Amino acid sequence: MAGEKKEALLEIRDLKVNYKVYKGTLKVLNGVELRVGKGERIGLVGESGSGKTTTLKSILRILPYNASIEDGRILYKGIDLLRADERVLNEVRRREIAMIFQDPMAALNPVFKVRDQLYDIIKESARGKLAKEEIEEIAYRLLKEVRLPDVERVMDSYPFQLSGGMRQRVVIAMALASARELLLADEPTTNLDVTIQDQILRLLADLTMKRNLSVILVSHALGMVRKMTDRTYVMYAGDIVEEGDSGEIFENPLHPYTQLLVETAPKLTGNWNPRGVPGRIPDYLNPPPGCRFHTRCPFAEQICREKKPPMIAVEGGKRVRCWLYYKR
Ligand SMILES: Nc1ncnc2c1ncn2[C@@H]1O[C@H](COP(=O)(O)OP(=O)(O)OP(=O)(O)O)[C@@H](O)[C@H]1O
Ligand SMILES: [Mg+2]
Repeated sequence: MAGEKKEALLEIRDLKVNYKVYKGTLKVLNGVELRVGKGERIGLVGESGSGKTTTLKSILRILPYNASIEDGRILYKGIDLLRADERVLNEVRRREIAMIFQDPMAALNPVFKVRDQLYDIIKESARGKLAKEEIEEIAYRLLKEVRLPDVERVMDSYPFQLSGGMRQRVVIAMALASARELLLADEPTTNLDVTIQDQILRLLADLTMKRNLSVILVSHALGMVRKMTDRTYVMYAGDIVEEGDSGEIFENPLHPYTQLLVETAPKLTGNWNPRGVPGRIPDYLNPPPGCRFHTRCPFAEQICREKKPPMIAVEGGKRVRCWLYYKR
């Protein structure tokens, strides 16, 4: 949907996040800018360590204790979540924005049955008080919707009694119970078999589409991101380096980093190619000045080492943060 401006649901502006570690301060997010329209499906890609999870956790304000948000705004329906009080944040977390984590076990409590955990979430996310039968009905319907066989048995299971794929379906059901506006899916299929990965991603695509939910999907499976999302943001070392229609981004990548990312990605399977982009992500203790990618870029010039490039609008509604596209 090139050029079509949907009403913004979420807008991240100039987000800077650091982590304190023993050796000093890791300057990770370096001014992230990202926008999600209502009902829009966004892909967020980039190699391991680029800051994707940090970005998603910032939205829900669930960063670890050693993280600090240095700057920026996260406008959700016009409210800045970085400055909102706990009451507002909890409301948003309970009812509007949900996150699916890389590890499904992290979202599940090992000592409670699926039934209890799902009921709790449904109760919490309801506006008023629900009768027991209503809660049961919603839970049952959700587990059916994520296509779990033998719903009764699943309800009475502890998380460890389920397979990885089943667990992730339960996690999706829980997320759907509380996400009325936006779903943050952080590599929802990493720990699963390749065949199951595909099924789960399709299921997610299906259910979110049906509900007209906005989605941010983080995945190394570029083929799936391309199929499942409207627009994609490419992240490198804490910067968004390219954004545009998902089809365009993967077919005609402009940023040298995106080009390498697409070239070195496996074509069909969802697995990350261990070869990947040559070189390594920079040290966040001392990130390179200028364009953070210049240390690995085959086209780097003097200016790239000195000055961070601006986001440059190019044809096809794409934007790219690279001096190569700057008209001098
Ligand atoms: N709890 C933490 N403490 C210190 N540094 C952290 C912490 N979490 C993340 N980082 C730093 O932030 C960087 C980005 O991490 P993040 O988890 O956001 O990356 P990612 O893009 O989600 O990577 P992956 O694809 O591997 O999940 C890491 O490389 C690391 O240097
Ligand atoms: Mg991550």
